[in-house]
Parts: sequence; C-alpha cells; structure tokens
Amino acid sequence: MDKPGLNRRDFIKSSFKTIAIGTVALSALDITGLIARASDKFEETTSEKTINLSDYPDLQSAGGYAIVAKRVIVIRVSQSKFISLNLTCTHKHCEVEYDGESFECPCHGSQYDKNGKVTQGPAEHNLKSYKTQYNSDDNTLTIFM
Ligand code: FES
Repeated sequence: MDKPGLNRRDFIKSSFKTIAIGTVALSALDITGLIARASDKFEETTSEKTINLSDYPDLQSAGGYAIVAKRVIVIRVSQSKFISLNLTCTHKHCEVEYDGESFECPCHGSQYDKNGKVTQGPAEHNLKSYKTQYNSDDNTLTIFM
C-alpha cells in the first residue's frame, strides 16, 4: 500500500537537494564569469601607446609637454627622459591642470609637483604615472598605460 505522506516528503527532500545543488553550480559559474570579466577589464586597461615625437612640436625640447591621449600628459625632462602622468586628480577625479611647473586641481585645490607627487591636499595619493620608453633611433616614445 502506498503511503502518500512519505512520497510527498521524499519529493520535497529531493527537490531541496536539487535546488541546493543547482544553486551551488550556478554560483560557481557566476564566479567564473566574474573572474573572466575582471581579467578582460585588466587587459583593457593595460595598453601601450607609441607616439612619434616629431608629431608633437612641444615635446622637441626639455621642459616641453603635450597631452598625448585622454587625460595623459607627457613632459620632456631632458633629451632622453620623459614623465607621463594621468591628469585625473586622486581626490575626486577632476582633471588637474599643468602650468609647466606643477599641477593644480580646479575643484578643491590639490597640488602636485612635476612628478605627480602630492604637495597639497585634500588629495592623499600621487597622480598615476606611466612608464615610458624613448627610442632615439626612430624618435618615438612608448607610454605603457
Ligand atoms: S577633485 Fe581634485 S582636489 Fe578634489
């Protein structure tokens, strides 16, 4: 003789097990997706840009500077030395302005020296800097952003 109460109980137990296993499996898939997306994001933000210095008259001599990409400045320090910085203020992300000697943020007054080091708050972190590589053979500069 069938006992409908036990069958229903077994069915409910089985359903909960299936839901639990499914939830764990979906969570694992979701984590894998998140990791893949984070990895893609990292690759998107790691790039390099090579510029021909002859295209930038302001970078022909030491002390010159030019914006070479969105919010990216290059300053020529000497014949073969360059500084590249992101112009995004580290306080609340306004774009800082360069006057040939230092950077100042128009939003709340943070200041940075030519190397991007904070000299006056409220910003607490230096400007993001990028490694550069000068190639004198073809007069190019590669910026690793
Ligand atoms: S955003 Fe630059 S000082 Fe606040």
